Amino acid sequence: METLIQLAMETRTRPRVLLRLTPGIEAHTHTYDQTGQEDSKFGMGVRAGVAFEAVKMALASPQLKLAGFHSHIGSQIFEVAPFKAAVEVLTTFLDEVRSQTGYVASILDLGGGFGIAYNKTDQPVPLREIVSEIGRYTRERLSALQYPLPRLVLEPGRSIVGAAGTTLYTVGNIKTIPGIRTYLSVDGGMADNPRVALYQAVYEGVLANKMNEPLTEVVTVTGKCCESGDMLIWDLPIAPPEPGDILAVFGTGAYNYSMASNYNRLPRPAVVLVADGEAELIVERETYAQVVQNDLIPERLRIKMAEERIAK
Ligand SMILES: Cc1ncc(COP(=O)(O)O)c(C=O)c1O
Repeated sequence: METLIQLAMETRTRPRVLLRLTPGIEAHTHTYDQTGQEDSKFGMGVRAGVAFEAVKMALASPQLKLAGFHSHIGSQIFEVAPFKAAVEVLTTFLDEVRSQTGYVASILDLGGGFGIAYNKTDQPVPLREIVSEIGRYTRERLSALQYPLPRLVLEPGRSIVGAAGTTLYTVGNIKTIPGIRTYLSVDGGMADNPRVALYQAVYEGVLANKMNEPLTEVVTVTGKCCESGDMLIWDLPIAPPEPGDILAVFGTGAYNYSMASNYNRLPRPAVVLVADGEAELIVERETYAQVVQNDLIPERLRIKMAEERIAK
């Protein structure tokens, strides 16, 4: 808050702000995908009273215009209940703030987090259902408190774009350890999809050039980074694979390109837009020259290197 006020003063602006609240909700998702629990690096705790202090600070500051409140309880959530629990905490907070300061919020933002199906066991709640249930419950809570309806904002991310993406890998070496496992290596991995290494995400994939062949093999798809943790899919039923096959991994439209990195100094892949029989390149494949373009060799080492070359 202090930083924001300072920035507003420096830039002579008066930003409209939403305060990010931590409602103290633990959504049933991977720990690293939870953001609304009390013990979180995100947001200001409602229960701890920090949020209320921040409200007082925002209201007292001529630099800020408090527009309302925000929360985002996590990602890949497959139930409506945690969102309703957040609404309950936040609406109680709205009411408390109103009774102690007279402030009435004009925006209530509940963030995103609606899950998508990465594999057959993921069972997302249809968006229409989740949104109408959140809307209905928020309305019910606020009318019970006789609180004027703020604008309800949701911020879906993954549920809009996740299913739109498919990553195509080329199969490289195949290593079979008899009685243990077959590793199928591909020309990508945690650099283009860190979700498996970060949150044990479970994906499904197929050999795109063998779609009609029966799935007679089980393989573990491994990335090319120098990490044993660089795995893409464990125990994937697949058609008999060979180097050069194309492995298509589904549901990679969200948090893949945006989270891709140059881990191990790998160049990032290209992105192709495909629809209705048409395809266009929308992101060019990164070159190695681009990866190292900001590298500098200090003058003193250049001289030393040149001297060594001459000495040879
Ligand atoms: C504040 C906020 N809102 C919305 C989202 C979107 O979440 P999702 O893609 O899970 O819907 C995120 C994701 O991290 C977020 O941090």
